[in-house]
Order: sequence, then structure tokens, then C-alpha cells
Amino acid sequence: MRKIKTNNSQETQELAQRIAKTLKGGEVICLEGDLGGGKTTFTQGLLKELGAEGPYTSPTFVVMKKYDLEDGQVSCVYHIDAYRVDANGVLDLGWEEIAGNKKNIVIVEWPERLSGILPEDSFWVTFSWIDENEREVLIDERFEV
Ligand SMILES: Nc1ncnc2c1ncn2[C@@H]1O[C@H](COP(=O)(O)OP(=O)(O)O)[C@@H](O)[C@H]1O
Ligand SMILES: [Mg+2]
Repeated sequence: MRKIKTNNSQETQELAQRIAKTLKGGEVICLEGDLGGGKTTFTQGLLKELGAEGPYTSPTFVVMKKYDLEDGQVSCVYHIDAYRVDANGVLDLGWEEIAGNKKNIVIVEWPERLSGILPEDSFWVTFSWIDENEREVLIDERFEV
């Protein structure tokens, strides 16, 4: 994991945007860490850079939100918030097909609730709250940023 400090939500979004530029499709990206750590903020940066159409509302109550992309090698981005479900709940949403499709990018908040069904090669990003505006973000070594 590589350690990166961000000093405001804009910087966290920009980090996500830099990472988004390197994605090829087929990635499952697991965002873990403190409440208020910036997982949803980071997701908004990813979605924006990938060309998903907003509003980027958090799927806390709907569990999964799907964004269809206009063109390019990635056709859909899925944002899953597993806070209120477990692995079986996500399997029922068609997880195997969604996560196994190289044309999809899947972003998971609260991935610790889905251990057992996450692919072994999932990418991880870990957020820690340092103070009101500072966050420590540990990013997967395989991200080419
Ligand atoms: N460096 C930072 N990175 C991300 N968010 C920050 C940062 N500094 C302050 N914030 C604020 O912290 C909150 C993060 O919330 P959110 O992204 O919803 O976190 P999570 O989804 O991890 O619970 C937002 O209100 C955001 O404006
Ligand atoms: Mg969140």
C-alpha cells in the first residue's frame, strides 16, 4: 500500500480522478476505513473521471447504483454500499456476473461485510481520519499513479 495524505475533499477527489485514468475495466475497488474518511468523496471523483452521469447519490439505502457509460472499454460502473447488507444480499443482486465482467468497474464501500465473495485480485483503498480536513489514504500498490 502507498500512503498519501490529502488536505481537503478536493484533493481526495483528485486522487480518485488520477486513479480512474488508469483503470482498464474489470476492477473491483474496495474502499474501507473510518466513517467520514472520504470513501464516498473518493467514489465521486472516480465516477466523474470515468464519465458517469450524476447526481452521484450514495447508495446507502438502495445498496447498489449502476452508471451506464457512453462509450469506451468500460460500459458500466457499479457503486455498492454494503453497510446494510451482507454477502448473500449482494449475491442476490447478481454479484457474480457484475464483478466477473471485464467491462465493468465495481466500487464497494464497507467491503469487510462482503469478505468471502470479493475477488482475490480486488484493489484496496483504506481511509483514515486524521483531523477535520486531513485524511491518510493508503492505495493499492498496483494503481499506476
Ligand atoms: N481530505 C479530505 N478527504 C475527504 N473528505 C474530506 C476531507 N476533508 C474533509 N472532508 C469531509 O469529510 C467528509 C467525508 O465524507 P464521506 O466521503 O461521505 O466519507 P465516508 O463515505 O468514508 O463515510 C465530507 O463531508 C468531506 O467534505
Ligand atoms: Mg460513504
